[in-house]
Amino acid sequence: MIAGQTMREPDVPTLSAFELVEGIQRMKREKNVVFLAHYYQQPEIQELADFVGDSLALAQAADRSKADIILFAGVHFMAETAKILNPKRTVLLPDLDAGCSLADSAPPEKFRAFLDQHPDHVVVSYINCSAEVKAMSDIICTSSNAVRVVNSIPADRKVIFAPDKHLGAYVQRMTGRKLVLWDGVCEVHVDISLDKMKFLLGKHPDAKLVAHPECPPHILAEADHVGSTTSLLDFVQRDPGSTFIVATEGGILHKMRQAVPHKTLIAAPANVENSCACSECPYMKMNTLQKVHDALLNGSPEIILEESVRRGAEKALRRMMELG
Ligand code: 13P
Ligand code: SF4
Repeated sequence: MIAGQTMREPDVPTLSAFELVEGIQRMKREKNVVFLAHYYQQPEIQELADFVGDSLALAQAADRSKADIILFAGVHFMAETAKILNPKRTVLLPDLDAGCSLADSAPPEKFRAFLDQHPDHVVVSYINCSAEVKAMSDIICTSSNAVRVVNSIPADRKVIFAPDKHLGAYVQRMTGRKLVLWDGVCEVHVDISLDKMKFLLGKHPDAKLVAHPECPPHILAEADHVGSTTSLLDFVQRDPGSTFIVATEGGILHKMRQAVPHKTLIAAPANVENSCACSECPYMKMNTLQKVHDALLNGSPEIILEESVRRGAEKALRRMMELG
């Protein structure tokens, strides 16, 4: 090849969005697939899924599933949870690099050392963690049931809460329990701008603020309602208010707008200079229609787990699920 000349890509047939959707729907039927998606997925993915929900509802849907293949449009720990509960089924994640800053904040070897420094504690881990960390935990929680899970632990027991320190601090306030907190945060929720949010509240004095408990305390202090993504969606439907500022990842706005098209919904802006763009989770947004299509076509990327880790993680997860 002559220096400076670029090699021509071989001709790869590109599919239109219509062809991708058509192919996904056909393969879903042919291969006996259940397609689960989180609220933070792109709208076109949510529209194709059999079930869209928060992390608790998705874990429960995976647990109920009888399909041969679980196609999970979410982040790695969510698909991994589906595999922990379904060791015999194939679990596909369209992009294996779709991680989570909270899960990454707790590497298993550091978490082990932390537990060794705090013997005799009950270990409660937020579902946003790796299978290895789940296997080191006594019980798992999600943002829907974290308060209930901690309240289920006898009052005389000392408790570690990991990896989200803001969710942990919120649970501490709600339960009145002193918790030993792991120092992790969600990079998306800590980036919501208080100044821009206050500016919006000034412009819309009747607006109510709904916030996910991964937000830091200064945001939660302003909120009219704090809850998981499902809980925020429920609140905007049942509350008589007509304007809501939504402090969580912007993907939830898709289902909210479908549920209450007559209400005004404003995404709380992120801390980006000269922009009022909403907070986006870069990991959630790694899944695309093309990758969903290719995952079904190729039967990969697949979640594979070491059996001893899976079994340990399942024990902690089942304890949570038994609480209902
Ligand atoms: P939910 O429990 O509301 O699904 O939240 C999961 C999550 O990753 C929020 O950032
Ligand atoms: Fe993780 Fe935050 Fe993304 Fe949720 S929004 S998946 S906690 S990085």
